[in-house]
Amino acid sequence: MRGESTHVTLSAAGGAAADGSVASMTRKIILDCDPGHDDAVALLLAHANPEIELLAVTTVGGNQTLDKVTRNALGVLTLLGATDVPVSAGCTRPLLREVVVAADIHGESGLDGVDLPDPGSPGHVALDGRHAVDAIIETVMAHEPGEVTLVPTGPLTNIALALRKEPRIVERVREVVLMGGGYHAGNASPVAEFNVIVDPEAASIVIGAGWPVVMVGLDLTHQALATADVAERVAAIDSAPARFVGQLIEAFGRAYLEVAGFDAPPVHDPCTLAYLIDPSLVRVRRAPITVELRGEFTTGMTVVDLRGDEPQECPTAVATTLDVDGFWDLVIDAVERVGRS
Ligand code: BDR
Ligand code: CA
Repeated sequence: MRGESTHVTLSAAGGAAADGSVASMTRKIILDCDPGHDDAVALLLAHANPEIELLAVTTVGGNQTLDKVTRNALGVLTLLGATDVPVSAGCTRPLLREVVVAADIHGESGLDGVDLPDPGSPGHVALDGRHAVDAIIETVMAHEPGEVTLVPTGPLTNIALALRKEPRIVERVREVVLMGGGYHAGNASPVAEFNVIVDPEAASIVIGAGWPVVMVGLDLTHQALATADVAERVAAIDSAPARFVGQLIEAFGRAYLEVAGFDAPPVHDPCTLAYLIDPSLVRVRRAPITVELRGEFTTGMTVVDLRGDEPQECPTAVATTLDVDGFWDLVIDAVERVGRS
């Protein structure tokens, strides 16, 4: 049986020049998110890491209602000094199902326990007027085929609607690297992960579209634990963004201990960025993925077929193993960078 690969598409942080040297190429991404404590860390990594070009941020109802997660996204970007990134609000609810939020983990505000800039303060990031679905379509279509990567870290409603509205994005997008699902783990149910169970029909559409998908699920993200050592490294940095990340980790840690019994919180969403920034940090394995839509006890489960040899032509892959130290070095480096700017 063939071993797992570290990266499954043409994507790579570097490209070979004519003289054989490897030039660094930034990855152009759209981050579709529902901040959310771990989404906020994903925003930080996307903004601060030089390998990533953050073309747009779009929001979707998930961890909290759309208005709350959008306000949080704008506040986080303001705090990070990411004032030139267009932010568009998207879908308020799943395609077919009722709204479900994760107030037990993220609180009533969606970002409980952290201080965000006052939305009325000078220089606060404002919303782009477009709906997120249109922003996604326009951004992808305005770039060359294979240039834009979609990074969803919330329910997949906006992405599913974008591809229904403009099916040509399937051919145009380089890959979709999403946080969601899992092959051996659930959190919102014994077998289903939050982002997928909230809108399983959308997840099914996105995962089954035929474009390259890397599913960064709970099997991987439960390795990204913000331990006391991580918190200490953040606390040693003297800047407003570092204090913000410290608050995030503390609040997230309290919630995960209370709700799920974790000694340290799994910081899920930035694992997608880690994969894009440095593919050697995340091992992946190609495998067919199906989303359970009609299970009596299993709706929202991502059924991953890991039997036999790794299917080389399969467009979907699952993330399996994280280089934990490398991941936290990347996050700490991003915290240091935003503090300096
Ligand atoms: C996912 O659900 C949300 O609560 C987090 O932000 C993450 O995207 C983890 O299941
Ligand atoms: Ca999220």
